[in-house]
Amino acid sequence: MPLILEPGTTLVAATHNPGKAKELVALLDGRFEILAAGSLGLPEPDETESTFTGNALLKARHAAQLSGRIALADDSGLSVAALDGAPGIFSARWAGPTKDFAQAMAKVEARLIETGSDDRSAWFTSALAVAWPDGPAVVVEGRVDGRLVFPGRGDRGFGYDPIFVPDGHGQTFGEMDPVHKDAMSHRARAFALLKAALF
Ligand code: IMP
Repeated sequence: MPLILEPGTTLVAATHNPGKAKELVALLDGRFEILAAGSLGLPEPDETESTFTGNALLKARHAAQLSGRIALADDSGLSVAALDGAPGIFSARWAGPTKDFAQAMAKVEARLIETGSDDRSAWFTSALAVAWPDGPAVVVEGRVDGRLVFPGRGDRGFGYDPIFVPDGHGQTFGEMDPVHKDAMSHRARAFALLKAALF
């Protein structure tokens, strides 16, 4: 059976973050009805895998099994070359329970100084997974490469955006017009791959 998503299908977005569910609807050009897992009362699974793709698949499979519907999940984060890929899948967790990204960015800077390395290369990754309740699943990964700057600049983005300058650009993701960020981001690249795979 080919894995094809028909327009108008209802998908469960495996996120408890209403902002993320909205972003998924926008990135899918309104082609699908989206129900947020949080609004269905589905519990969030522990993210026990060691890769972005593993965690995206785990979340999509969990939501598909519990809801009986096709489910979409993402997992994303910032990886720093000189920190052997950290914070990586722990990107959200480095911000602590209060989601303090000023603290998370300070931690990245402190760890970099500790290494003594002057390598500031880093990348964002976005893994997207779609799972069917009866088993099959598709997972893709998009990546954008760049370098870190300290102190951070700009307040237009979220998370680690102020310290990330994508290759070929001078502005950080935090300074950039969101339209430009969305055109080149790891998430946009992952969505392009997902669309090519499923639509
Ligand atoms: P997730 O919700 O487990 O996928 O956590 C992703 C975390 O990675 C977010 O909390 C952000 O800290 C970080 N992250 C992912 N994508 C971006 C981005 O586009 N800009 C800034 N930070 C990001």
